[in-house]
Amino acid sequence: MGLRAWAPGRVNLMGDHTDYMGGLVLPLAIGRGIVVTGDRGGDWVMLGSEGHPGVAEIPLADAGDPAFVEPRWARYVAAVVAEIAPDDGFVGMIQSDLPEGKGLSSSAALEVAVATALGADLSRPHVVAQACQRAEHRAVGVPCGIMDQLVSVAARADAALRIDCRSLDVTPVPLPPAVEVLVIDSGEARDISDGSYAERRAECEAAEELIGRPLRDATPADADTIDDPVLRRRARHVTTENERVDAMVTALVKDELDTAGELLAASHASLRDDFAVSTPTIDRLVAELRGTPGVYGARITGAGFGGCVVALCQPRTRVSVPVLWRGRPVGGARLDDI
Ligand code: GLA
Repeated sequence: MGLRAWAPGRVNLMGDHTDYMGGLVLPLAIGRGIVVTGDRGGDWVMLGSEGHPGVAEIPLADAGDPAFVEPRWARYVAAVVAEIAPDDGFVGMIQSDLPEGKGLSSSAALEVAVATALGADLSRPHVVAQACQRAEHRAVGVPCGIMDQLVSVAARADAALRIDCRSLDVTPVPLPPAVEVLVIDSGEARDISDGSYAERRAECEAAEELIGRPLRDATPADADTIDDPVLRRRARHVTTENERVDAMVTALVKDELDTAGELLAASHASLRDDFAVSTPTIDRLVAELRGTPGVYGARITGAGFGGCVVALCQPRTRVSVPVLWRGRPVGGARLDDI
């Protein structure tokens, strides 16, 4: 009998560039993800990929430095093997219906799917997510936060997940019944391993240093005390975005969807003006969606620099922009016998 491990991609409804500063986020899993099928056993992890050439061939005895493994996609596999250190190998295949390079966490879904196939304990989501986050750092050197990996493990159907990235407490926040999530593809590819993401993170750390306490505990008024205009704007984004996460939770719980729409607009403006991670194409998409009847609101989602827009709308709302996925949130990673 074989195994089938599945892990979803995500969109983030609120709270971007807050996770690595111990802040608040509100992502949800979408009905697209990565599947690993195969059998446990042996001393190697050997995985082919339907979408990419080459094979990941990782010896359990010595996974080596994942950053030098070829082909490049196999670095994620090698890093997960190094982190999970499974007793048994695995021979199988990777399949995906989750587009890459669009800000939907395809690398986190790959890490979580591989970890699940290798026997990671899904009843301890934050342990699995932290192993996969370290794997991301080791594989491609992106100093990401915990959001993508944790939501891929711990997501709940029909709910967004409020994650406190300092305590790693996770709280499902049910979406009101009359809401559909839209994921819109900007068509602009992004590669956050080019240093742009690391630069933003370093700016936030510098801002935190100037304020003299964790940005998570700082207020927008604290941010305004910073003289350097760039660092001031970065800190203003993080402090206001943390506040918007809990405001969004309240709006969803109370079914106040117009308020939710206003919060999405405010978050987009903050990511565009204070955090400088939007693009003219994405700004146009967000404006067009905001003007569409039935759409409550829209914002850039994920790391930015291209990628996707997330919108909340009434079910079956017609939009004139390219929809990559629409629906209700799905649950997190699963392991099934096949
Ligand atoms: C990427 C990272 C996450 C998070 C977002 C921005 O998706 O992997 O940890 O920082 O960007 O919110």
